[in-house]
Amino acid sequence: MRVVGVSGEGGYGGPEVLAIFELPERHAGPGEIRLAVHAAAVNPTDTFTRNGSRHEMMKDLDPPYVPGMDVAGVVDEIGPDTHTDLSLGDRAMGIVVPKGQHGGYSDSLVLPVDSVARAPVGVTLAEACTLPMNGLTARKALDMLALPPGATLAVTGAAGAFGGYAVQLAKADGLRVVADASEADEELVRKLGADIVVRRGDDVAARIRAAVPDGVDGVADGSIQNPLVLPAIRDGGAVAAVRPFVGDTERDIVVHMVWVREYARERDKLDRLRQQVEDGTVTLRVAATYPAEQAGEAHARLERGGTRGRIVIEFRPEPTK
Ligand SMILES: NC(=O)c1ccc[n+]([C@@H]2O[C@H](COP(=O)([O-])OP(=O)(O)OC[C@H]3O[C@@H](n4cnc5c(N)ncnc54)[C@H](OP(=O)(O)O)[C@@H]3O)[C@@H](O)[C@H]2O)c1
Repeated sequence: MRVVGVSGEGGYGGPEVLAIFELPERHAGPGEIRLAVHAAAVNPTDTFTRNGSRHEMMKDLDPPYVPGMDVAGVVDEIGPDTHTDLSLGDRAMGIVVPKGQHGGYSDSLVLPVDSVARAPVGVTLAEACTLPMNGLTARKALDMLALPPGATLAVTGAAGAFGGYAVQLAKADGLRVVADASEADEELVRKLGADIVVRRGDDVAARIRAAVPDGVDGVADGSIQNPLVLPAIRDGGAVAAVRPFVGDTERDIVVHMVWVREYARERDKLDRLRQQVEDGTVTLRVAATYPAEQAGEAHARLERGGTRGRIVIEFRPEPTK
């Protein structure tokens, strides 16, 4: 199998260190499914595997270290004693918890059956691979906030992958949504369904308060505003943090730390996201696709910032059926 990764100590660095490695083929064991991977999404977290930020977690594992948390492809092996409605040849998507040589940037990937769901009908595999990780993160954030229908949620980083899904899923949950956007992103964020759009930036909380004078019930903090966002929230409200919250909270505002890994084996939730794509609730966005050999360029583009839609690495051409 072919993977894109880094060679570990001495081999970490900028986008240029990503390279192709050949590894022995793996097979699906009990409770596992193997995908012939067509597309893997490039997420901000993947850069930490590449630049050595995860060295302490990885150093006892064999390199290469392979980033990547979500994939889409075709089922090509189903392990023994594996309960699934998927069949060989079906288009599927999966969430990956990367560890050592196991990561999404692989042309063949064995996953627990509960990490895999059917790919949505009517979208490409490149589009499908953008859904599992950030879709499940948005779901987890909303589940932790547990706001009742009619409550008001603010979303920061709403033009991004997590933020965009958070806006769309929150609307489907019956919430009123205030979202931030740059001037250039305003139309995009409105189209996602936000009821109120405010200008993004360090003083986003003041603008949210101006729009919702009593304060919002919760915030999904996709742009990592940390305490800067707290003034937007009513006393006793909550914030869902997607990176460890840096700073102190105030006025009994609860900080929920969202770890998508806790939803990595929630097949029903992943399948619900599939349905929400098929019924138009959730829309998928691909900024650009790169062949696996150009994964470094994909990372360089991600790190330049400002991409709208996910960058995707492709290992195989899109199947025709
Ligand atoms: N804990 C978990 O399990 C988990 C899971 C998924 C994601 N995450 C984290 O969630 C965050 C969002 O991920 P993503 O994939 O949605 O990233 P993304 O697609 O890059 O979206 C982030 C958005 O925030 C905007 N932004 C960045 N800095 C900003 C600032 N200072 N003020 C206002 N807006 C700002 C970005 O705009 P520009 O492009 O213009 O900078 C972009 O629109 C990342 O930190 C990611 O690592 C955590």
